[in-house]
Amino acid sequence: MKTSPPFAELSWSDDGQPFSTYFGDVYFSRESGLEETRHVFLQHNDLDQRWAALPPGATFCIGETGFGTGLNFLCAWQRWEQLAPADARLHFISSEKYPLSSEDMRRALALWPELQPWASQLLAQYSDLTAGWQQFSLAAGRVTLTLLVGDLLDTLPQLDAQVDAWFLDGFAPAKNPDMWQPALYQQMARLSRPGATVATFTSVGDVRRGLQAAGFDMRKVKGYGRKREMLCGRMQGLPETDWSAPWYQRPGTLPDGERRALIIGSGLSGCCTAFALARRGWQVTVIERHATAAAEASGNTQGILYCKLSPHQTPLSRFVQASYTYCLRLLHEVLPQGDSTWAACGVLQLSTDDKERQRQLALADQDYPHSFLHSVDAEQASALAGLAVQRPGLFFPGAGWVNPPSLCQALLQHPNIRLLTNNEALQLQQRDQHWHALDAQGHSIANATVAVICSAADSRRFHQSSHLPLKAIRGQITELPATAPSRQLRTVLCAEGYISPARQDRHHLGASFRFDRLDSEPSAEENLGNLALLDKLSPALAEALQPQRQDPATLAARAALRCTSPDYLPLIGPLAEAQAFNEDYAVLGKDASKQPATPAHWYPGLYINAGHGSRGLVSCPLSGELIAAWIGDEPLPLPLDVAQAVHPSRFLLRQLIRGQNSKATDPS
Ligand SMILES: Cc1cc2nc3c(=O)[nH]c(=O)nc-3n(C[C@H](O)[C@H](O)[C@H](O)COP(=O)(O)OP(=O)(O)OC[C@H]3O[C@@H](n4cnc5c(N)ncnc54)[C@H](O)[C@@H]3O)c2cc1C
Ligand SMILES: C[S@@+](CC[C@H](N)C(=O)[O-])C[C@H]1O[C@@H](n2cnc3c(N)ncnc32)[C@H](O)[C@@H]1O
Repeated sequence: MKTSPPFAELSWSDDGQPFSTYFGDVYFSRESGLEETRHVFLQHNDLDQRWAALPPGATFCIGETGFGTGLNFLCAWQRWEQLAPADARLHFISSEKYPLSSEDMRRALALWPELQPWASQLLAQYSDLTAGWQQFSLAAGRVTLTLLVGDLLDTLPQLDAQVDAWFLDGFAPAKNPDMWQPALYQQMARLSRPGATVATFTSVGDVRRGLQAAGFDMRKVKGYGRKREMLCGRMQGLPETDWSAPWYQRPGTLPDGERRALIIGSGLSGCCTAFALARRGWQVTVIERHATAAAEASGNTQGILYCKLSPHQTPLSRFVQASYTYCLRLLHEVLPQGDSTWAACGVLQLSTDDKERQRQLALADQDYPHSFLHSVDAEQASALAGLAVQRPGLFFPGAGWVNPPSLCQALLQHPNIRLLTNNEALQLQQRDQHWHALDAQGHSIANATVAVICSAADSRRFHQSSHLPLKAIRGQITELPATAPSRQLRTVLCAEGYISPARQDRHHLGASFRFDRLDSEPSAEENLGNLALLDKLSPALAEALQPQRQDPATLAARAALRCTSPDYLPLIGPLAEAQAFNEDYAVLGKDASKQPATPAHWYPGLYINAGHGSRGLVSCPLSGELIAAWIGDEPLPLPLDVAQAVHPSRFLLRQLIRGQNSKATDPS
């Protein structure tokens, strides 16, 4: 039996056209792929008329089956720029089981010089893709591309979106029968906004009947070029309310169209959230109690891009992987690399023991592109590091170190963001449908219809979020001036601790975990602990830095508080009223299988983004996109089970269900 390749396997015809050797079919019409796309997908979804009639600020969502070379996407994006209002936003969701390698993508898109202005933007962000969900922000945020990498029969059921127009592509039904299934048409119907349209190049009867059975009114029309017929249609049915998990249903957008948001906290989570909203056209005010942004956990000099994955594809691991790929795209977009900002110098995750090595080997066995991660032995690791290391590990070539304040500053530069420093919000109060951040005197610092709490562990100060199990854990980083031999270090090394190549001729070594202190005064003891971590990371590097290891009490250091949750996942999403939640869903305390049909009581327009633990650099960028998607009722950039795994209400739900368990075992 033929096994599936992780990537598209292509051959190229004499005239440079890609052909799938796996499916035995062409990616697009040999006559003119461009004109076929325009005829089949753009024209027969009525996109010209619909886009020209959009009101200012509207969003429009296209769903596609089979991203392939991205030709359909680029044609749609090009037309969108010509017709849609300047502040309208296009969200393009496409599924792809066998993504093209970046090299093949480059070669295929070179066929269309007319599309180069758009293709070059896509290619700048397109690297060899991993399985899972991939978020791209293009055209300064005006266009979002969400790629669902995997079989669409697995990925579409996990999608939370409302699609306005479908591009039903994919190789011909005879060549790819596994895709053209009733299950696909049912997912398309579930994900369609009322009146959504569909167009496809094929006119096969099974496809027409399948789409009709799912609720689309279908008709045959003239196909492109020599093709006699194709199909197009419109969704007739209305979406059904899904009561399977009302506590996770969307709060919906606010009736008032005002797009102003208030963000409490200017660390990585606050800045990434502000940026995601600002590039969607929101006016954002960020409130910060210190004199500068990023003055607490996000104020470290060098943080590392640590992509810790599990071979078991847990929600945490899938969250980290999706976040990491988006984080790299954002960094390349907004922050030029440099001696003070960031460096994509690669990260070596060295194994700490046999069990850890087994985990690494299991990961390396999965179909990750070499450019994403690969296993290295101690010799290869030493060659990459530029200094001897004793252990094998995993190498992440695209990762590196970042100066978090530089990233925060770059994001805050967006003209739609206003930063109010030296202002501490002590309460959040809703008046006249606006959230007011109140200071110690009860005066309103600023107000907006939407507020996002990004205050790390201090998020619990607000009574609306006081029930959330957020905890502060202190950590310290030690600074060591570089020496001639330590300047040889070329990649980040990490195991129990980590060290980066020098930034402005200084290395930073991290990090301690202290559960007994919540102050930010550096301690000699933690410096000693960090030096011990360095000894284990690389004796050669420890030796190289020996002259700098004077008295641990006088070493430069910085301590701050991480914010964690009991399941090590952040809390990203809308805030429910805790007491009402417990009352609405009390029945779950008796029987967890019950499905009460009560919508959750959300605080209108109130959200939280906190609990990023030890990996905020990796997780904050996508968390901003996720919050913006919740707020704007946009497609979520993560599979539903992962979005629910980071949903702030999960702890209320678990408490109710645990209550049931403890009662069940209570002998009284
Ligand atoms: C020692 C150490 C090492 C780390 N190393 C790494 C690493 O290598 N890689 C990595 O990815 N992550 C690392 N982290 C974790 C990372 O720094 C955090 O996950 C991230 O900074 C969290 O960002 P945040 O915005 O949620 O929180 P913070 O950066 O703490 O920001 C919260 C902000 O809210 C403000 N604020 C709070 N309450 C109020 C209020 N009421 N009114 C106004 N303002 C308020 C605070 O002043 C602060 O600026 C490390 C953390 C520590 C402590
Ligand atoms: C004809 S090509 C699509 C062309 C593409 N729309 C473009 O603009 O270049 C069909 C694509 O569908 C993908 N595909 C086929 N079966 C799939 C499935 N079950 N799930 C997701 N993608 C699939 C193929 O890998 C291929 O890239």
